[in-house]
Amino acid sequence: MTTSFGPSYVRAIAPYIAGKPISEVAREFGLDEANIVKLASNENPLGMPESAKRAMAQAASELGRYPDANAFELKAALSERYGVPSDWITLGNGSNDILEIAAHAFVEKGQSIIYAQYSFAVYALATQGLGARAIVVPAVKYGHDLDAMLAAVTDDTRLIFVANPNNPTGTFIEGPKLEAFLDKVPRTVAVVLDEAYTEYLPAEKRYDSIEWVRRYPNLLVSRTFSKAFGLAGLRVGFAIAQPELTDLLNRLRQPFNVNTLAQAAAIAALNDKAFLDKSAALNAQGYRRLTEAFDKLGLEYVPSDGNFVLVRVGNDDAAGNRVNIELLKQGVIVRPVGNYGLPQWLRVTIGLPEENEAFIAALEKTLATA
Ligand SMILES: Cc1ncc(COP(=O)(O)O)c(C=O)c1O
Repeated sequence: MTTSFGPSYVRAIAPYIAGKPISEVAREFGLDEANIVKLASNENPLGMPESAKRAMAQAASELGRYPDANAFELKAALSERYGVPSDWITLGNGSNDILEIAAHAFVEKGQSIIYAQYSFAVYALATQGLGARAIVVPAVKYGHDLDAMLAAVTDDTRLIFVANPNNPTGTFIEGPKLEAFLDKVPRTVAVVLDEAYTEYLPAEKRYDSIEWVRRYPNLLVSRTFSKAFGLAGLRVGFAIAQPELTDLLNRLRQPFNVNTLAQAAAIAALNDKAFLDKSAALNAQGYRRLTEAFDKLGLEYVPSDGNFVLVRVGNDDAAGNRVNIELLKQGVIVRPVGNYGLPQWLRVTIGLPEENEAFIAALEKTLATA
């Protein structure tokens, strides 16, 4: 029986597939949770910074009250760090929340939103969720084709999502190319530049997107505390944009979308430069180790600037799922990406050295017996 509840464009949405939790894999495969390695959700393998844990413990006594709806202190800390006024900042319950709010704030049902093939799944969800029309621009070498994205703009386009680095492919667009793109995007079209992994970029690849926000009134830069800052479970993200866009976001944002503990932890994490540096260094080291192992195994991978790598584990469309199951049996959780149209690939989050070794050993064993 087909349901008649809800709009047809909502019924058409394929639900988001999250990384499997450790407890679920333990139950399903009869494994001990302590021996399971999870490299499936691009989390920081160092966990939360100690500074954030201390800040949360202090804030815990405030939990009988609602959070500060304007997050005065967190916005002040972000304002100081990024050199923009507080009223250019919007907080989100994770940056997913920002992406979703932006789509609803800038686009009407029936208008179009542009994003790249193989880009972050939430762009499609946000587009479909409001009954907008998706214009999906074919990727080039698994990354964004900015010229084609510009050429795809139509009269009813109101938003372009750009992820840099991109998830799940890890591809990176150099600053000057992005700047040239922003210069050409019509001012009636908002650009959400999703920089969830920006803190992992090496110094030579960095560019100043906050300076672009000052220059382009249609640009929104989205960042998160979930990755390099180590606070994925707390759900804090933020947007930086000029007041016209920020004001729209704030009209739609739920007033208490970032809770008290999350606000306190985010301030601490923002100021914990040592943790951030350690996270980036560990990631770079893990990337070298994983890609060296892929080279040795003769596996193709997409060069990545995120905290994960996309690796091709076979040449048939069942390969991703097949290898994934074998890895799960050995207690290693990675992410199959068939739902992204990449059924021959797996996305592996870069872990602690011992986690990377466990994954490599399990992969070698799987491929040797395949
Ligand atoms: C490109 C990109 N943007 C946004 C997010 C959302 O992260 P969060 O909602 O935890 O901030 C992710 C998470 O995987 C991502 O990969």
